[in-house]
Amino acid sequence: MKVLVTGGAGFIGSHLMRYLLENGYDAVALDNLTVGSRENLLPDMELIEADVLSDRLTGIVAQGRYDAIVHLAAQTMVNTSMDMPRFDAEQNIAGTINVMEAARDANVERVILASTAAAYGDVLETELPIKETHKRAPMSFYGLSKSVAEQYLDMYHKSFGIDYIVLRFANVYGERQGNGGEGGVISIFCNALAGGNDITIFGDGEQTRDFIYAGDIASGIAASLSAKPKAANVAYNLSTQTETSLRELVSVLGNIKGSPIIPKYGPERPGDIYKSMLSNGRAKRGLGWRPMMPLEEGLRRTYEYFKGITD
Ligand code: UD1
Repeated sequence: MKVLVTGGAGFIGSHLMRYLLENGYDAVALDNLTVGSRENLLPDMELIEADVLSDRLTGIVAQGRYDAIVHLAAQTMVNTSMDMPRFDAEQNIAGTINVMEAARDANVERVILASTAAAYGDVLETELPIKETHKRAPMSFYGLSKSVAEQYLDMYHKSFGIDYIVLRFANVYGERQGNGGEGGVISIFCNALAGGNDITIFGDGEQTRDFIYAGDIASGIAASLSAKPKAANVAYNLSTQTETSLRELVSVLGNIKGSPIIPKYGPERPGDIYKSMLSNGRAKRGLGWRPMMPLEEGLRRTYEYFKGITD
C-alpha cells in the first residue's frame, strides 16, 4: 500500500514513517519543514518538501498514485489558535480541504485525519472515559478547527465516496516531540531533567492526563489504513484509557533518573482541564488495535532521547 503522510517529518509523523516502513508499507512524507525537520527522518526516507496549502499538492498526489493519505500536518497548539484563529483555521480547515481536493482528484481511496481530545472540550469527571459519541464542544479554536475538519471528511465521503477514519489522540509523547511551544508536559519535563534543570507543576499536580506513546499512535494509524471499509467513516479515540496524575508522572521520572525529583509548584494554567481520559474500546473492537507501551518504558525512551540531545 502506498501512503502519503502529510506532516511526515514532524514528531508523530516521524514515528509513523518508521512504523510504516518497518511493516511493509510504501510511505512518503510531505512536510513544509516549519515545525518538522529532515533530521526527524532516517536518511533513506522519502520526503517531499511542500505545504498542504500549496497549489502543487494536487499534482504531487496525482503523480504519486497513493492508495491513502494520512493527514497529520496541522497547527497543533491551543495557545497559537487563541492568538491567531485565522491562521489556525487556514492550516487546519483550509489545509484539510486542500488535501481532500487532491484526494478527490487522484481517486485516493482513504484519508486518515489526526484529530484531538480537544474536540470534546471540558467534560465532567463522571463522564470519563470520554466515548466517541460524546458531544463535541471545543473550548479553543484548535479544538474547533479540528472538529470542523472532521466534518469536512464526512462531507467528502458522503459527496464523493472517499473513505475516511478520524483518530482523536489523547496526550501523545515520545522521542522527537518539541519541548517549546508545541511540546507537551512530558517533553518539557524530560528535557529539563536531562539538562539538570528544575521542573514546575502548574496547579496541585493532581490533574490527570491519558498519556499515549507516539509509537502506539503509529500502530493505530496503520490499523486504520488496513481496516475493512465497514470500520471506516467514523471517529476513533486513540488512548490508553488510563489516567496518570502529574505527581505520579514525576515519581516515575524519578525512578528513571535514579534520584527523587522535587518539582516546583506554580499557579494553575488558565484554561487547563483537570481530569482527562479517553475511552479506547471502539478502537480495540473496530481496528483490532491496542496500545502496547507501558508508561515507564515510554518515559525511559523519551528521557534517554532528551539526554542524548542535551549531552
Ligand atoms: C494536550 C495537547 C493539546 C491537545 C490536548 C487534548 C500538547 C502539547 N497539547 O494539551 O494539543 O489539544 O492535550 O486534551 O500535547 N504542565 C505543567 N508544567 C509544565 C507543562 C505543563 O504542570 O511545564 C501541566 C499543564 O498545566 C497541564 C498538564 O501539564 O495540566 C498537561 O499539559 P500539556 O502537556 O500542555 O497538555 P494539555 O494541556 O493536556
